[in-house]
Amino acid sequence: MEERIHTLRKEVEAWSAGDKAGVEQFRLKYISKKGLIPELFEEMKKMPPEEKKKVGKTLNELKQAAEQKLQAMTEVLESSTSANYDLDLTLPPVPNKVGNQHPLTLTRNRIIEIFERLGFNVADGPEIETDWHNFSALNFPENHPAREMQDTFFIGKNPDVLLRTHTSNVQIRLMTDQKPPLRAIMPGRVYRNEAISARAHCFFHQVEGLYVDRNVGFADLKQTLYHFAKEMYGKDIKIRFRPSFFPFTEPSAEIDISCLICKGSGCNVCKHTGWVEIAGSGMVHPNVLRNCGIDPEEFTGFAFGMGIERVTMLRYQVNDLRLYSENDIRFLKQFHSVI
Ligand code: DAH
Repeated sequence: MEERIHTLRKEVEAWSAGDKAGVEQFRLKYISKKGLIPELFEEMKKMPPEEKKKVGKTLNELKQAAEQKLQAMTEVLESSTSANYDLDLTLPPVPNKVGNQHPLTLTRNRIIEIFERLGFNVADGPEIETDWHNFSALNFPENHPAREMQDTFFIGKNPDVLLRTHTSNVQIRLMTDQKPPLRAIMPGRVYRNEAISARAHCFFHQVEGLYVDRNVGFADLKQTLYHFAKEMYGKDIKIRFRPSFFPFTEPSAEIDISCLICKGSGCNVCKHTGWVEIAGSGMVHPNVLRNCGIDPEEFTGFAFGMGIERVTMLRYQVNDLRLYSENDIRFLKQFHSVI
């Protein structure tokens, strides 16, 4: 018996399997239920106890050796088959999908492009702002209800530091830092403490516009925004100015364009009026110029602020603001520059 175990052990160790069939053959011959090793175990059962003990040890070692061999051969076979695929290094690589730009980015870039052609620079300002730049310098009197309308987020306990509620803060920074003539647009993110719905969000984006020089008049404002609307939406777009109020402009106007979603027949985006508001605007208030060290007797200016989400909504017919920030790839991958 001992000798047979010994010979089997040698055979097992010498076995070499070139392929799957060889490995299977090994398993059937030695390990499977009807293999040689289980057969020896059966024989061992019939032996007297002292011999059983001795043989049992060597037989168990043989069994282990055979199992290890089987495992090793299987592993070698698997690793060689996975590396053994047809590899053609001369094939061109599959291009990486680079994704596309966010619809708000596409719209912001288009707005910038339109105004840059009119000679506007692009300016930037902080999102964490002081009360002075966001409110006081813009002629919001202290405790005036207009401040409350903006649902401000404050930073900590200091009421002087807040998240800007509009991009108009950049007007102040620009007019304080530079001398007229000034012509700039200022895109950026703004924050308001509003309940999130299809029509409102706690953060959104605006583009502020400012033109300060000698003899700038309301006609310049109107013509600039007419031009913008036609460039953005095409020649058939209608635009209207509605008298309004902002502390930092006098006179002030809100700007509506004809609803591109229902083409004027009435829908819930235009609240069945056929018109959608896209911006606020007006002539820069003399107090604002004065607050920035500019003489209102010498210089005048116009300003406007428009919502990028709103402009995008009409451009791509998106009817829910929340879609812009949910990062749903099915939504995001639909957008390409349209003009
Ligand atoms: N800051 C205003 C808002 O967020 C928008 C605005 C209105 C900006 C009139 C202006 C302006 O520059 O002249 O509602």
